[in-house]
Amino acid sequence: MCGIIGYIGKEKAAPILVKGLKNLEYRGYDSAGFSTIDNGTLLIAKDTGKLNEIELKININELHGCVGISHCRWATHGNVTQENAHPHTDCTGRISIVHNGIIENFSELKEMLIAKNHKFSSSTDTEVISHLIEEYYTGNLPEAVRKALKEVEGSYALGVLSADEPDIIVAARNESPLIIGKGKNAMFIASDVPAILEHTNEIIYLDDKEIAVLTKSNFRVFDLDGREKKKEIKKISWSMEDAEKGGYEHFMLKEIYEQPRAIEDTINGRLKNGTINIKEELGMDENSLKKISKIIIVACGTSWHSALVGEFMLEELAKIPVEVEYASEFRYRNPIVDADTLVIGISQSGETADTIAAMKEAKRRGAHVISICNVMGSSITRISDAVLYTRAGPEIGVASTKAFTTQLAVLYLLTMHFAKLKNTLTEKQLQSMAQGIRKIPLQMQAVLEKDAETEELAHLYHKSTNALYLGRGANFPIALEGALKMKEVSYIHAEGYPAAEMKHGPIALIDKNMPVVFVAPYDTYTYKKILGNIEEVKARGGIVIAIATEGDREVAKKAGHVIYIPDSLYTLSSMLSVIPLQLLAYHTAKKLGKDVDKPRSLAKSVTVE
Ligand code: AGP
Repeated sequence: MCGIIGYIGKEKAAPILVKGLKNLEYRGYDSAGFSTIDNGTLLIAKDTGKLNEIELKININELHGCVGISHCRWATHGNVTQENAHPHTDCTGRISIVHNGIIENFSELKEMLIAKNHKFSSSTDTEVISHLIEEYYTGNLPEAVRKALKEVEGSYALGVLSADEPDIIVAARNESPLIIGKGKNAMFIASDVPAILEHTNEIIYLDDKEIAVLTKSNFRVFDLDGREKKKEIKKISWSMEDAEKGGYEHFMLKEIYEQPRAIEDTINGRLKNGTINIKEELGMDENSLKKISKIIIVACGTSWHSALVGEFMLEELAKIPVEVEYASEFRYRNPIVDADTLVIGISQSGETADTIAAMKEAKRRGAHVISICNVMGSSITRISDAVLYTRAGPEIGVASTKAFTTQLAVLYLLTMHFAKLKNTLTEKQLQSMAQGIRKIPLQMQAVLEKDAETEELAHLYHKSTNALYLGRGANFPIALEGALKMKEVSYIHAEGYPAAEMKHGPIALIDKNMPVVFVAPYDTYTYKKILGNIEEVKARGGIVIAIATEGDREVAKKAGHVIYIPDSLYTLSSMLSVIPLQLLAYHTAKKLGKDVDKPRSLAKSVTVE
């Protein structure tokens, strides 16, 4: 949560910061602010609201200077007010800072600083850092930041300026993402790549407890004891086009439509002539992999839903017991993990604080820990023994879509790998799995072509105040995901349930105003039961919307509305059935006039506990 960008170079900083910050707004958008240095004076402008509103309130042109830092906020400590917006300054008004993270010992530090006569002007945890730096400042900013951070507990990505040292930006990170970008005659700091992609694709990933000092032509990195560290410059392959809307009205819609391409990219090179090829990426020898007796998957939100589909795939086809855990719960329990347990962290951003903590805990307990992640070099990838990347490209919309289906693709490939290794499927079955996933991009395309049908449903039901989503097997998580998408972007209350659970309670909610979405592609186990559940809803006057397999006439006879998806292997059907639900949420939110890409109270990556 919260986005940071900093610039030092030859051009005026403020316009670069505004543009960059717009690409980070998915991280927080309740307030924003800027600080530059002009002729030895520190300038600050900040306010509440989204960036385009703030641009009308403050005059960015008045922020002169070729060095600056800026911030978009997602409030944790302190209300959404102008005072609480970043940057924050010290008592002299000559030091400014932007911060993403949470300072856990801020109360103690604040008390100590107040006793030393520091005057606070906000109720944030962040402000203690600027006063602490002031406390240590004797004309050497990197040194003062280093000493201050030695006293700080918690997470931080920091950008710091001092009017007395206008030729540097000092940056630091601990458990919150921060990268350095090396441009032509310019250096950047940012929370995420899209903020600076327009200027450079040469990225340096800061590690925990590292401090960086940037000039317009150089950077140096130190640990908290002042020892210099060597850092590698990585070239990333995302283009600016990948990070822009490309003609779509919203990122969410663009990203829904990118799914066929994203799946294609994710499976490319990993399936050769029907043979699965992820051995090297997994980085474990065959014997250790064969010994794995249990898999635990830790994740949050949408990634947790993909884990549930993964559980179904891995148990059904590779016959490995799988437990799916909310990362936030796993870390505070006493999980049973040993050297034969494989722990998989799933995360789009690779920066979700709970998932990071759960993976660290699993590692501490001796498990082999791998991740499925979309962002190269993110924190989660750096604590993993191996990473299987989803190749979805940058996902900017707060509601996760293409990251979800690419996670399913990776889980499917992993299932194939284990099934082969453990001999749980025949060569013929594996070949048929490979053919099945190869068809998915085209099949997704076919579902996307039915967008008008989901738009029509949104038109009919966008005024509903509640909705139920029901599914079974590999499609129960899709019911959860469909409901989450609807809640997130339209603010309509929606719940996902295993279809058979309906009769144990939720059935009482059903009346003629309740849309009930059945995710019911054909399968050999539960299909008939779902037809029964549809009858139960109809008998109570509920509105039945079904996602069914092409050609299924039975469902058509019973449901009020059917959206067909192409026939596929059942374990792959979730990759198709989720698309109409993503579109339904999108169109509903749009009809209700909601800010689809920046839903209230949410942030793209939840980097706080
Ligand atoms: C999904 O639409 C969400 N906004 C959210 O639930 C998200 O999936 C969750 O915060 C996990 O994020 P991650 O995949 O980046 O770890």
